Amino acid sequence: MWRRFNPFQSALFRNFRKQYTTKRIRINEREFEIRQLNAGDIKNLLDVQRKVYEGETPWVRSAFLSELYSRHAHLYLGVLEENQMIGFMGVRVSLSDGHITNIAVLPQFQGLGIGTILLEESEKFSRSLDCATMSLEVRRSNQDAQRLYRRFGYVSRKVLPQYYDENQEDAIDMVKYL
Ligand SMILES: CC(C)(COP(=O)(O)OP(=O)(O)OC[C@H]1O[C@@H](n2cnc3c(N)ncnc32)[C@H](O)[C@@H]1OP(=O)(O)O)[C@@H](O)C(=O)NCCC(=O)NCCS
Repeated sequence: MWRRFNPFQSALFRNFRKQYTTKRIRINEREFEIRQLNAGDIKNLLDVQRKVYEGETPWVRSAFLSELYSRHAHLYLGVLEENQMIGFMGVRVSLSDGHITNIAVLPQFQGLGIGTILLEESEKFSRSLDCATMSLEVRRSNQDAQRLYRRFGYVSRKVLPQYYDENQEDAIDMVKYL
């Protein structure tokens, strides 16, 4: 996840938007909706973050707003169960790289395969824009997420020393070659 939102992460724009067709998926007899996020979802995205990050919101409202209205090619998806937001993911395309900017699933829904589905959607989107790679940053201590990314084909590229401001933790920069 980006340490914090940076609107100038890429200088080049692809000024077009792709529409995502809402999907319904079943996991363990439960039905979930995956749909494109909009500004009206931000309050719920902040709530998801608080529950995932022990009260913290690494991304604030303005960060989500800027991303949702970015002129960069991007896809922000939410996963809902009975209209309750239980997870989300964002990918932003820069040059030929699809970068996962943020991904989180509520603790009680983790381990069900929702993260994997969101990674698959991010990859389909990136491939549709002819990306050569996908990338992301993950905390060095976040072994669970790293295992998921490795299983999905990501490899470590480099260490970003003291990337996260609040505790100076290193990030691992990971890449997947498409
Ligand atoms: C990382 C995250 C998005 C994965 O979503 P998910 O829905 O739990 O992922 P899946 O169910 O598809 O995959 C589970 C795999 O992820 C890993 N995993 C990560 N967190 C897990 C958890 N709390 N419980 C179980 N598995 C977890 C495991 O390696 C598991 O692999 P396995 O099937 O080999 O055991 C989610 O766990 C999460 O929100 N974590 C907290 C926020 C975070 O770390 N975000 C990533 C920032 S880079």
